[in-house]
Amino acid sequence: MKDLLRLRTSLTEEIEKVLNDQIKMEAEASAMYLAMSSWCDRNGFDFSAGYFKKQSDEEREHMLRLFKFVSDMGGRAVSPDISGIQIEFETFKSVFEQALQQEIAVTQSFNRMADKCMKAKDFVTFTFLQWFLKEQIEEEYVARRALELFEIIGEEGTGQYEIDKRVPKIKYEDTYED
Ligand SMILES: [Fe+2]
Ligand SMILES: [Fe+2]
Repeated sequence: MKDLLRLRTSLTEEIEKVLNDQIKMEAEASAMYLAMSSWCDRNGFDFSAGYFKKQSDEEREHMLRLFKFVSDMGGRAVSPDISGIQIEFETFKSVFEQALQQEIAVTQSFNRMADKCMKAKDFVTFTFLQWFLKEQIEEEYVARRALELFEIIGEEGTGQYEIDKRVPKIKYEDTYED
């Protein structure tokens, strides 16, 4: 049965595997952002809680976009098994440090995937990946800007409250216009 299904897709086994690995990575990112939202909420950072909930939703959308592609291509999309998601965080700032690290790891993962697609001459998947490669510019930018608020505003006095308020207002523009 497995061999028969295999004939129905142009995805190589290796590319199907890396796509499924990325599905899992996006699901983990979604779960991690949701945990961050909960931590922020429990510690009185309401705006950041809302921001991380939104990030969590976006990561799930990314997961589904990949999932649909594997399915549409006749591959076997695997609903990922997620466990061991962190619940506690050291400090408000450390949440944002981890968020940026996570986004950088995702960008690196997409770069490796694009490289594999080139080597396998899988230009269909390579083209599909362009959306994600572009999206990561924004994802990294927003995460980096959020972390920079800690240096710009400082955490003393009402600093953390100010940072919390500013986080959801970070916007990425891909041109210098407006
Ligand atoms: Fe993502
Ligand atoms: Fe992301």
